Amino acid sequence: MQELERLKNELKKINAEAAGIRDLPAEKRGDFGREINAKRQAILAQITEAEKAALDVDVQPIDVTAWCEVNEALPDFYGVEMGARHPLMSELDRVVEIYQLMGFDVKESRQLDNEYFMFDSLNFAKEHPARDGYDTFRTEEGLIPPAHTSTMQHRVLKEYRHRLDDGEAIAVVVPGRVFRNEDVDATHEHTFYQCEGVYVSRDCNMGQMLGILQEFFEKYYEQKLNIRTQPGYFPFTEPSLEFMIEKPKALGGKKGDFLEMLGCGMIHPNVLKMAGINPDEYHGFAWGGGIDRLVMLKYGLSDVRYFESGNLNFLREFN
Ligand code: DAH
Repeated sequence: MQELERLKNELKKINAEAAGIRDLPAEKRGDFGREINAKRQAILAQITEAEKAALDVDVQPIDVTAWCEVNEALPDFYGVEMGARHPLMSELDRVVEIYQLMGFDVKESRQLDNEYFMFDSLNFAKEHPARDGYDTFRTEEGLIPPAHTSTMQHRVLKEYRHRLDDGEAIAVVVPGRVFRNEDVDATHEHTFYQCEGVYVSRDCNMGQMLGILQEFFEKYYEQKLNIRTQPGYFPFTEPSLEFMIEKPKALGGKKGDFLEMLGCGMIHPNVLKMAGINPDEYHGFAWGGGIDRLVMLKYGLSDVRYFESGNLNFLREFN
């Protein structure tokens, strides 16, 4: 504070000195003015600094942990490093936001489900070997932590089918955590994230689906992309496709380097029927793909296991 007073007095002196300009002959006024002005600016800068320092001293934050002195057992919160959001959560938000901007609703998936939603409602025949392809975990009670977000399709179709009666379309995306009982390596995790999309209307078609997907990937990677599809097999779509994008040059890709990003197709009539939607009247398409892989490509990550590792050095890279 004393320093601030001193500087303010100094400024007053300089201002008084400046008034003397009137007594000077015209040819000396220019140099004098410039010199005085430089001095003023220097003092003003010092005053600003001193005021800031004074604030630091005078305005102390309230010590909300003062009660720790009363109860020694309680922790001292000072010095504890604050956490941050997990990169996958931030990226999942971005994914959902892109679809929302296209007009999709969002319904979150769940972390425990059953045989009906995992398989039956998705047109997997009883005892069909395709059920084994999903490497599902099971609880002792026979419940299933979902192996894909498609478990939500039946629920979405039922919950939103009134839209069709109102002459609108069903357009919903479902982000969620999924689980598979498979060997873990650099490209396989037992726990990962997917995002599902479901669209149903009177006259939608595959071209629209490919348009939506291309738009999504181009928004997410912020660049134009080449896409390609190849035939796939899923019991809940007919026809079924695997959707691929050409790995962007900026992300280390070479021409013709296509990566499979998700499974998709026209919703099987049986799936619509089971949800109470007449397949002769309405058509739908759906897709589902991994979020981890999407994010790995964006940031050039080579090992999916980082995401679930809790490795702070890795996590700090994103904050
Ligand atoms: N659920 C599939 C999987 O995890 C991906 C998928 C394929 C989702 C086709 C769909 C779809 O909605 O129509 O392998």
